[in-house]
Amino acid sequence: MEEFAKLFIDLVEASRAHEQYRDLECINLIASEGMKSPAVKEMLRLCMDLESRYSEGENDLQGHVKARYYQGQKYITIIENCAADLVKNLFNCNWTDVRLVSGTHANLATFKGLSTVTKNRKMVVAPLSCGAHISHDYTGLAGQVLGLEIINLAYDVEELNIDVDRSADIIRAARPGLVTLGASLFLFPHPVKELKSVAEEVDAYVVYDAAHVLGLIAGGEFQDPLREGADFVTASTHKTFPGPQGGLILAELKNSRMEEAIKGVQHTVFPLSTSNVHLARLPAVSVATIELKLFGRELARQTVKNAQTAGQYLYENGLKVLGEDKGFTRSHQLAVDVREYGGGKRVAKDLEEANIILNRNLLPYDNQNNRENPSGIRIGFQDVTRRGFKESDIKYLCDLMLSVIKYKRKPQEVKEEVIAFKKQFNKVEYGFNSVEEAIKYLEKYLK
Ligand SMILES: Cc1ncc(COP(=O)(O)O)c(C=O)c1O
Repeated sequence: MEEFAKLFIDLVEASRAHEQYRDLECINLIASEGMKSPAVKEMLRLCMDLESRYSEGENDLQGHVKARYYQGQKYITIIENCAADLVKNLFNCNWTDVRLVSGTHANLATFKGLSTVTKNRKMVVAPLSCGAHISHDYTGLAGQVLGLEIINLAYDVEELNIDVDRSADIIRAARPGLVTLGASLFLFPHPVKELKSVAEEVDAYVVYDAAHVLGLIAGGEFQDPLREGADFVTASTHKTFPGPQGGLILAELKNSRMEEAIKGVQHTVFPLSTSNVHLARLPAVSVATIELKLFGRELARQTVKNAQTAGQYLYENGLKVLGEDKGFTRSHQLAVDVREYGGGKRVAKDLEEANIILNRNLLPYDNQNNRENPSGIRIGFQDVTRRGFKESDIKYLCDLMLSVIKYKRKPQEVKEEVIAFKKQFNKVEYGFNSVEEAIKYLEKYLK
């Protein structure tokens, strides 16, 4: 029992210490992490009963509740339907599924549903080393769990993007059921429009994985995949979309082909891959949806501006920032080749010691197996932007990073300055401080 008690106390202490460390003392630059507003956090706390409840069953073609197999659902059904309608409104589409517990789950449901409907087990994707997510790859979910045959699209390392002409030939030769675009290292919009017409030739569905860029899409700062021809958009709700951890899928139900596909995806969501829905996320997802509807344009614009400012500044100060001839990035991310300074592993570790948290990353020209010490780091600006960083703050942050990366100062020495700097950003912008504040703000729109 003593061991048991000790483990629990260690866990509580680590949980408390974590909140202090990462929320208050670190500058968070991991591109896949989100930044929730106080109102989103409050909504999560308000939903503690919901967090214990079950809701399982089918949805209809509007993404609403169709059948549920438990009693006690009268408010739960309203919550599920409102959450779906808010998301559809934000992304200007007529179908969604908000029941996914993560972006990987959204990919699972979409890849499985579509490969079943098309009776075609081939999927073409960007290569993993060029930014695709492991769930797209033959070594991950798509290959090892779903048994799909994965064929890589061609990638142009100079352009940092998918090579349209060579990829079109690959799609025509492979005749896949799915063409999946979107990525984890995602600097520039993918050629959705260009590859859509090729996918149509072979009757393939186009899936766009917006896990990273969903919030930027909402803010109109990145390509709008549904308007460019994607049939399905899968995403996380906790990266640039500033909600609780979860996933969603979007689509436009416009014809019988899409109806068949949506039914296939819905069937994979329930009953194939969920029982309960983890309901307590949904009101908090809805708060984040409203925040993006109201402030998403400004938030997305500043996020991209901050990323571009950092790209220019790091480049001017001697770092090999990718995409120089294209303005470094059109998203919230930067990729930097740090081989000259010991590689991604050393740089990420030393920055961690200075309380600047980011991740090492394979770059498109790296050997895919070199994950231990890849050439690059990936830097994401969505968290600092939401905390209020503007261009001058970004440049100061870059100076701190440069001093560590270039071995000019010891990480421990820089850490004190990072903590002091972080203290100046103790608010969350482009969002609400409380649920009450959100309601008051929205009341003016009620007739
Ligand atoms: C492109 C892409 N898709 C899917 C995922 C998986 O999302 P989640 O972590 O929500 O499962 C990620 C994660 O970072 C990603 O980068």
